[in-house]
Amino acid sequence: MFLESKLPDIGTTIFTVMSQMANEYGAINLSQGFPDFEPPLALLEMCEKYLKTGYNQYPPMMGVPYLREQISSKMARLYQVNINPDEEITVTSGATESLFVAIQTVVRRGDEVIVFDPAYDSYEPAVTLAGGKTIHIPMSAPDFHIDFDRLADALDSRTRLIIVNSPHNPCGSTFRASDVARLADLTRDKNLFFLSDEVYEHMVYDGGAHQTLLANEELRAKSFVVSSFGKTYHATGWKVAYCIAPDLLTREFRKIHQFVTFTTHTPTQWALAEFMEHYPEHYLELPSFYQAKRDLFNSAMADTGFKLTPSAGTYFQLADYSALSDLDDREFSTYLTQKIGVAAIPISVFYEHPPQDKIVRFCFAKQDKTLNEAAEKLGRLELIDP
Ligand SMILES: Cc1ncc(COP(=O)(O)O)c(C=O)c1O
Repeated sequence: MFLESKLPDIGTTIFTVMSQMANEYGAINLSQGFPDFEPPLALLEMCEKYLKTGYNQYPPMMGVPYLREQISSKMARLYQVNINPDEEITVTSGATESLFVAIQTVVRRGDEVIVFDPAYDSYEPAVTLAGGKTIHIPMSAPDFHIDFDRLADALDSRTRLIIVNSPHNPCGSTFRASDVARLADLTRDKNLFFLSDEVYEHMVYDGGAHQTLLANEELRAKSFVVSSFGKTYHATGWKVAYCIAPDLLTREFRKIHQFVTFTTHTPTQWALAEFMEHYPEHYLELPSFYQAKRDLFNSAMADTGFKLTPSAGTYFQLADYSALSDLDDREFSTYLTQKIGVAAIPISVFYEHPPQDKIVRFCFAKQDKTLNEAAEKLGRLELIDP
């Protein structure tokens, strides 16, 4: 029997590879993006309450109404945008599902989809499965902003979708208001859509504001905007997220969502809705919560040979190790995990044509003691002579 792979170039995601290596070598895992602390206790108690009081059957296909209302209220409060909870919000099983479904909704055979490298690794396989072609536009260190000249050059009649991600994984860069305005200018009167991955929307630092595409009227009309409760509520294993899009797009999106997962875990949806209503301070305080961790990690790393420029957003921190080693970033991440006891993510894997930069990504969504221990180990790293 012969099966021709639909994704011949795809192996196991780097996040799984590095986390498995971290487990195998007993390394502190600063590779995959998940907290090593629990969700808020009140949220866990609400979840238990709903589990035990009969909220265990299929919820509505588009998500529990109470949760969609809370999402809509939050959007109005934070970004001054009015989102119709019935027609424009769909709850999905993780942002991964939203991204996949949005891509299947608009991409047809032969369409081109623009992504900015380093790009989160779930985008391209979904484009490939839809029959589309991914066009990669690189972003460069140290600030990792979109190169709008290159974007203008890449746009043509086959461009169907542009995927953006702010705050950006793995770079930690964030959109400025001017970036959103440029996206609108460049795509005016063009028949294309946006998929905006905003899963780190509540992690923007130093007084900056998250720039959602939804706040721009022109972009909103052609955008799917995705966020994830896993990131916001320290519950990445729950896989509850949502996609906001205009009603016409949402209708098509739901046609696919209903045959991918149909619905998303019921009790967590109810618990998240109740928690959002009664504890809005959780997401309001998230920037200062994570900024303190970013600052702790940056100062703990100050005396190591790594060079860090504090992240503007996300819970990731890039670190330049060029003063320490000539190894490429995959070899270096393996060395760090196996010999130094701290796992990191090489960022070259997120590029079509990786630059020669010597940069790895650390996740600082960790307890302070984990971050201090990791920095202490990384500080022991001598110049590596391969
Ligand atoms: C940029 C980005 N998009 C999407 C996801 C997936 O989110 P979820 O776990 O809700 O599927 C992640 C998770 O790491 C991410 O970093």
